[in-house]
Amino acid sequence: MKKTRVLVTGGLGFIGSHTVVELIARGCEVIIVDNLINAELGVLERIATITGVRPVFHQLDVCDAPSLAKVCVGAGIEVVIHFAALKAVGESVQKPLTYFQNNLGSLMSVLQCMQEAGISGLIFSSSATVYGEPRVLPVTEAFPFQKALSAYGSTKQIGEEILEKVTAAGAIRNISLRYFNPVGAHASGLIGESPRGIPNNLFPYVMQAAAGKLKQLTVHGGDYDTPDGTCIRDYIHVVDIARAHVCACERLVGNQQLSAFEVFNLGTGRGSSVLEIVKTFEVVTGQKLNYSIGPRRPGDVPVVYADTQKANAILGWRAELGLKEMISSAWQWQRNVG
Ligand code: UFG
Repeated sequence: MKKTRVLVTGGLGFIGSHTVVELIARGCEVIIVDNLINAELGVLERIATITGVRPVFHQLDVCDAPSLAKVCVGAGIEVVIHFAALKAVGESVQKPLTYFQNNLGSLMSVLQCMQEAGISGLIFSSSATVYGEPRVLPVTEAFPFQKALSAYGSTKQIGEEILEKVTAAGAIRNISLRYFNPVGAHASGLIGESPRGIPNNLFPYVMQAAAGKLKQLTVHGGDYDTPDGTCIRDYIHVVDIARAHVCACERLVGNQQLSAFEVFNLGTGRGSSVLEIVKTFEVVTGQKLNYSIGPRRPGDVPVVYADTQKANAILGWRAELGLKEMISSAWQWQRNVG
């Protein structure tokens, strides 16, 4: 059977690298482009160690459409998975123009190159942030967008709007995947999340605090209207997220879409509080975690977790790994990177 050739932008990043591993395991041929601003070239070797296959790699900025077109045209690519984007919510509030230029510019560039190369299938990394503060839980894909609190959130909302219009008008078909809180690492311990500088997100912060690289975790707010007073999120293992991309890829290649633009939530359907993460971390690793309760972090939504029925029924995917695996794999990765 002919192998599906897939272009993965941002394929050396956290979710990108895990997805490349799952694609190769399913027999796809992968071409990676990454500008390495938030990823290491060493990840390519680690992918090769895990899979036994070294994917083709081009170091380039996806916003550079002429260079991207050279990679795409005549390459036999059937599906593009577009991960490459800036993703720090706080930074996006300080540098909104940079986020609009990069995240929307790269999407335009990808779409333009797909048209030039005659590639029809696109998978787009969207985010639960498009929902803002949902009024009904769990949140379904039908919940209307709320005003985005950050430029990062706006780029995901506008990105989806662009895709809805472009797919309605032309030959491109899209599946947008709305990630909840991707965490964890590959079971091999060879790839994982490596934030530059002090982490903003809970999981890397917990891991680095437990490893003694940071003094202690500050829990952002203990007075929310939740059972233990801390915020609730839908944490999902990055390998489950990666597997969903393989399902989406097969759906595009098999022409199985119900419409040219589809969106799916990627979560477990289960919410966990910050203190639940702390307690589970201590049980799973046998390691004590220093933490204190601090003030609320501006812009945090108290509770959000996914309704996953659409992804389960239509995409044919469901999350299989639980909090225990998310924590133990992230901890193994932390100990490997030191
Ligand atoms: N938290 C702490 N202490 C920390 C870091 C985080 O208490 O040091 C808390 C936060 O206040 C929040 C929870 O842990 O209650 C999760 O925070 P993260 O920063 O890990 O994740 P967010 O839910 O804020 O954001 C994530 C992604 C965004 C995405 C959003 C979608 O990082 O890219 O989910 O809902 F937009």
